[in-house]
Amino acid sequence: MTEIIKINASKIDKNKIKKVAKALREGKVVVFPTETVYGVGANALSSDAVKKIFKAKSRPFDNPFIVHVAYASDAEKIVKKIPEKAEKLIRKFWPGPLTLIFEKKKIIPDEVTAGLKSVAVRMPSNKIAHKIIKESKTVVAAPSANVSGKPSSTRAKDVIDDLNSKVDIIVDGGNSEIGIESTVLDMTKEIPVLLRPGKISKEEIEKEIGQISIHKSMFSKEKIKGNVSSPGMKYKHYSPDAQVILVVGEKLSVERKINEIISENNGKKIGVISMSFELKKDLSRRFKTKEELSKNLFLTFRDFDKEGVDVILVEGVDEEGIGLAIMNRLIKASYSIIKAF
Ligand code: TXA
Ligand code: MG
Repeated sequence: MTEIIKINASKIDKNKIKKVAKALREGKVVVFPTETVYGVGANALSSDAVKKIFKAKSRPFDNPFIVHVAYASDAEKIVKKIPEKAEKLIRKFWPGPLTLIFEKKKIIPDEVTAGLKSVAVRMPSNKIAHKIIKESKTVVAAPSANVSGKPSSTRAKDVIDDLNSKVDIIVDGGNSEIGIESTVLDMTKEIPVLLRPGKISKEEIEKEIGQISIHKSMFSKEKIKGNVSSPGMKYKHYSPDAQVILVVGEKLSVERKINEIISENNGKKIGVISMSFELKKDLSRRFKTKEELSKNLFLTFRDFDKEGVDVILVEGVDEEGIGLAIMNRLIKASYSIIKAF
């Protein structure tokens, strides 16, 4: 049985926080909201508790979890050392959507890190998350609260769709403000490596600590081909059931291409996600800023699936700021990518 507990972020009920924290201490699995996406958490210092997360998510055992802390001093307790560059980033961006990877201490069980010698750590800024972790008096391993392969959940109802009856508690704290997972930066290298882009951008990080590098696997640009019939199913990730087609290029060409694809596919149910133009169509969602798009992207994928959409056409965005993270998720979710001329 899963208990659903609603907590109002602007008037946090302490007794509810205590109840959720106690469940974590007892080794239970708890879904909680964060500023990025919902997380499915368990006591990171207990391998038995952490194993339950894999089961709930059907997650492969070779994918490590992020450990969520309430204080920077708790990070010190689980990692060997915090390099100077990391200290700067912590001072600037914690609490917030930045995950840092360090060499781990033995106290962190192998189940958390999938056997790696390093551990990912983050301090969420969401008040509910922060209070739950603080009150639990431990550190909390938590991947995104979705069934593996699906888009991350950014609202309680999406969590319920994926994980109801598989976890002990689901905390409903409203919609996630950012909507895309945290930036992940590997601090174990002399020149830190960006493993996953997020709200804290490469530009913002470099302003604090100088140059960083981008991991090669971040983009699979080879997927960008000229036509629709070049499927990239191998990379299926963050994916709705509908086929996502990402259309990139100049605004007007993208608009023309999307209209062309719609008229060529009139037997199919098509959803559209755009920024620069509005389509007079039921299943069309326009988001005017990249922040609004990021906040609504995964939930729109899920809404379109519920409507029985076959194909989702998405307009690409520029890669500045959070744009890099949006494009990274879109490329990974997409069945094919079309360059519009
Ligand atoms: O915003 C977020 O980060 C959310 C919320 C719940 O905090 N969590 C999240 O967790 O997105 P998850 O498990 O879905 O993604 C964590 C990413 C994975 O790509 C994982 O491979 C990577 O971080 N990761 C974790 N530990 C790592 C390590 N030691 N070395 C390299 N990558 C690591
Ligand atoms: Mg995930």
